[in-house]
Amino acid sequence: MAVRNKMKAKSKSKVAAKKVVKLKPKKPAAKAKPGNGPPRPSAKPWGQAGKALDGVRILDFTHVQAGPTCTQLLAYMGADCIKIERPGAGDITRGQLRDVKGADSLYFTMLNGNKRSITIDSKNPKGKEIIDRLIKHCDVLVENFAPGALDRMGFTWEYIHKTNPRMIVASVKGFGPGPYEDCKVYENVAQCAGGAASTTGFRDGPPLVTGAQIGDSGTGLHLAFGIMCALYQRIRTGRGQKVLCAMQDGVLNLARVKLRDQQRLAHGPLIEYSQYGEGIPFGKAVPRAGNDSGGGQPGWILKCKGWESDPDSYVYFITQAPVWADICDVIGKREWKTDPDYATPAARLPRLKEIFNTIEQWTMTKDKFEVMEICNKVDIPVGPILSMKEIAEEQSLRDTGTVVEVDHPTRGKYLTVGNPVKMSDSITAVKRSPLLGEHTEEILTKVLGYSKKEYEEIKVSGAITAPEKPAKAEAA
Ligand code: COA
Repeated sequence: MAVRNKMKAKSKSKVAAKKVVKLKPKKPAAKAKPGNGPPRPSAKPWGQAGKALDGVRILDFTHVQAGPTCTQLLAYMGADCIKIERPGAGDITRGQLRDVKGADSLYFTMLNGNKRSITIDSKNPKGKEIIDRLIKHCDVLVENFAPGALDRMGFTWEYIHKTNPRMIVASVKGFGPGPYEDCKVYENVAQCAGGAASTTGFRDGPPLVTGAQIGDSGTGLHLAFGIMCALYQRIRTGRGQKVLCAMQDGVLNLARVKLRDQQRLAHGPLIEYSQYGEGIPFGKAVPRAGNDSGGGQPGWILKCKGWESDPDSYVYFITQAPVWADICDVIGKREWKTDPDYATPAARLPRLKEIFNTIEQWTMTKDKFEVMEICNKVDIPVGPILSMKEIAEEQSLRDTGTVVEVDHPTRGKYLTVGNPVKMSDSITAVKRSPLLGEHTEEILTKVLGYSKKEYEEIKVSGAITAPEKPAKAEAA
């Protein structure tokens, strides 16, 4: 033991000696490069140099889905995300589609992981003062209230910019400036107004919306991208800016191939749409394409063994041109390889329906995973139709952290979708969503610097506590 202590003392004195040497006058430091001059690469092992957005603080004034999707992604990347909620009620989704009595809904928990919750009544004078302080302490304010709601609270862009010129104010709205800018918008309205619904479904049926939340979550993603760019630009300019993402624009961006097809229509029929092969004329607008592939490689959804009782026993099958010979071999139609009616992509286009019917005769003899296995061996692109049950149980998605199980104090364990973006030096650890106001005291005292006495005064001001008659959280 004594020897060890001696060694410690010796090594300490060595360190001290080294320090003295370091005190020699140094050359003046090179003038820092303006903006984002590169620091020296970290010597820390990959994944141990913090998170991508460490040090970024978000004032999360979002609710429902579009805004929370954006801020959850930023929180997954390491941003400190402070979610302001109305005292006593919180984000309306806490109570929507509730499956466990008295517990926050999955709607809420799956969109608000890795955040902190503070309750503030933004219409109470003391509440406004607290939000003022938050504006000074944060880098980005994200909101998706109805048009004008933030202004009505008194937090106009001009006011925020004056209070904190570095603040980025990021908003989701249903529509951009124009005839509909004052409208409230939910997911399916955006899918319809963004052009997706008119091009989804079958030609002889009504427009369809899709289960993927391209209006809400899709726009949240776009907004996150805008925020990142604004943070990057701020390194050079030193000032924040407004970032607006309209849901209509976000959906259109995801449906851009259909605007491509709209313009192609002026030059003739869309030959990769199966209606072309069926001899059905095109109208003035891009039609619904059923399960036709959106690209240049024809595809369709085909039945697999067990389809009569299992609604998800299907596979998406793509007749990619370079593997046409393999497709012919696999389905036992070797003669199609040389038959001029089938041998070339152009010859096949008018016969797609018949071709897919024939392939289906083969897929119906196999289950969807067998089809996948056989086809993948020869590089034929196919995809099983996976049910949400299968996805929830898929081990490989758990292994990559795409599906994560987290524990929650009132609802117990639940599954959520982890960070779909995997980074080699910023590893996401998914944490449960916060309880309503769980971090109110912590944020007021530790982030905003209110003293214990001031905190007690705030408590009685009504700024952070529910009114006598609590607003109803159960809205659905
Ligand atoms: N304290 C006090 N008041 C608060 C508050 C707080 N912490 N948080 C919100 N409020 C108030 C707002 O100030 C607003 O009051 P006001 O109408 O008197 O100005 C009110 O709550 C409701 O906000 P609003 O956004 O109008 O909610 P809504 O439930 O009526 O509408 C949407 C919901 C989603 C339709 C609407 O917010 C919207 O169109 N948002 C933009 C598009 C969008 O994001 N849509 C997708 C949602 S997934």
